[in-house]
Parts: sequence; structure tokens; C-alpha cells
Amino acid sequence: MFSSALISAILQNFAIRAVIYRKSRIMSTLTGTHVIVIGGTAGIGLAVALQAVASGARVTVASSSPARIESAVKTIQTSSPSTSKDMIHGEQLDLSDPETYKEKLDKLFSSAAAKQQVTHVVYTAGDRIPITPIESLTLDDIQVAIKMRMIAPMLVVQTAVKYLPRSPASSIILTNGAAAEKAPPGGWSPTAFLAGGLKSLAKALAVELKPIRINVVQPGVVDTGLWDFMGEAKGPAMGQMAQASLTGRVGKPEDVARAYMWLMTDSFVTGTTAQSDGGYFLV
Ligand SMILES: NC(=O)c1ccc[n+]([C@@H]2O[C@H](COP(=O)([O-])OP(=O)(O)OC[C@H]3O[C@@H](n4cnc5c(N)ncnc54)[C@H](OP(=O)(O)O)[C@@H]3O)[C@@H](O)[C@H]2O)c1
Repeated sequence: MFSSALISAILQNFAIRAVIYRKSRIMSTLTGTHVIVIGGTAGIGLAVALQAVASGARVTVASSSPARIESAVKTIQTSSPSTSKDMIHGEQLDLSDPETYKEKLDKLFSSAAAKQQVTHVVYTAGDRIPITPIESLTLDDIQVAIKMRMIAPMLVVQTAVKYLPRSPASSIILTNGAAAEKAPPGGWSPTAFLAGGLKSLAKALAVELKPIRINVVQPGVVDTGLWDFMGEAKGPAMGQMAQASLTGRVGKPEDVARAYMWLMTDSFVTGTTAQSDGGYFLV
């Protein structure tokens, strides 16, 4: 009847189709969702936006610099040429003045929601980490430190819940720092204070805002523009961090972005801090 070559070709065809089907199911896990990434124009946030679009989401990225927004939108569009350009938006949001947070966040969310119901909110915006020894810490240093790492995340959540469906399919993901576990010596106390608190904040809000899910990603050292202030010292510092890591390297934004993807797509996880840090704290 059928030759063994024909049967083998049919089976091979089925196997290839099964792989394509499984891959398309994995890649489209965010289809129908709308993800806002505040801080999504560079570093970790941009990597989250890229992966979310590749997984089928509509994405709105927001940050303060119009040039960065334009460049990020182009980068995302180029990375997913088959995605309609209409699915990728950029909005300006400058978080340098807490007095304006409420008004600006409302504007961002209402503009995004007019395009499509918002489903997930990712907060990765961050300015330069303040490193000041306790002896010389001023009130101004503390006020600067809390702006984008305490006041902004809280007001992002307060605004987001007005727009998210009350469902475990909705989630908010905040971004923490490794100082929550182990602060390097020499001036990391404000960051450690805030990072420790953010984990507790997520737990409290997960209870208060149920069934909307609130989670945190806590990256180890990731090679992004956040460290550019170090100038020529950045390369050697990254090399030292790589040696101290169990994986023999520092993180890439796309590594850590996978933790955000997990927290968006697993509707059973809330109040959790996901660490992506190369095992840095085990040694
Ligand atoms: N990289 C690491 O090693 C590492 C490790 C642990 C934790 N983290 C934390 O992860 C978060 C993201 O870090 P990253 O490495 O991805 O940093 P990044 O590459 O410097 O990106 C920071 C993002 O925040 C935005 N941003 C900065 N100031 C802003 C403002 N005033 N208003 C609105 N948006 C603003 C930036 O865009 P604009 O310039 O356009 O505003 C950019 O999109 C930060 O909170 C950081 O502390 C990073």
C-alpha cells in the first residue's frame, strides 16, 4: 500500500507541525492583552516590552525622554515586523516631580485605556541609584531616593487599579534591587531600606487588591545604561560582578525580562518576589 518512505515523510510532517503549533502557543501567551511598561524605553523595561510584543501583547511604553520613546518604539516595531504598528505606542511620562505624579499617571492610563483595556502594568523606571554614606546623608538625598523607588511605585499601583479588570488575569509588577538581600558597603542604606520595603509592599497590596495580582522582580546586576555613570570603571566593575556570580556573567536585560513574562502569564502567582540574579547571593 504505502511505501515506508511515504509513511516516514507523513510522520515527519506531523512532527514539524506539532513543533510549530507548540511554539506558536508559547509565543502568543499574551495575545489580547495590553501591557503598559513604565520605564519601557531602555534596559530591562525595553526587554520586557520586546518580549511582550513577541508574545502577542499590545504594548505602551512610557518614560521621560521623547527621543528615547521614539527610538524604543522603532526598535520594538523592527523586532516584530509582522505585528501591526498600531499595537506599539509610546507615551511621555516624566517622574521627576512627585507633585505631578497623579495627574501624569492618570493621563497615561486614560490615553492607553482608550486604545485597549489595560491588562498588565510593569514598572521598571529608575533614575541613578543614590549611593551616600549614612554620615553624610542629607534630607534632600532621602527625598530624592524615595521619589522613583517609593512614591512612584505606590502611585502607579493606585492609578493602575482604577483601570485594570478585577481579575487574577490582571497584574502589576514592580522592580526591586538586590540591596533588598545584601547591601554593598559604603552608602547603600537608602536603597536597601526601600528595596526591603518593596517586597513587603507587594505582599500587603496583593492581599488588599485581590484578585488583581501584585508581584516584584528583583534583578541582580544587569548590564544596562543604569551603570553608565561609572564611565570607564563600568567594564571592570561588570567583570568583577561576573566573577562573583554563579553563572559566570552579569545579567542581560532579556534574561530578567523572562521573570516579568512569568509573572504576567501565571495567573496563580501573587505577592511574590522573583529573583533573577545569577545566584549572586549564595556565595
Ligand atoms: N541594571 C541593574 O543592574 C539593576 C539591578 C537591580 C535593579 N535594577 C532596577 O531596575 C530598574 C530598571 O533599571 P535598568 O537597568 O533597566 O535602567 P535603565 O536602562 O537606565 O532604564 C531606566 C528607564 O527608566 C526611565 N526613567 C528614568 N528616569 C525617569 C523619569 N524621571 N521619568 C520616567 N521614566 C524615567 C528611563 O527612560 P527616560 O530616560 O526616557 O526617562 C528608562 O526607560 C531600576 O529601578 C533599577 O534600579 C537594575
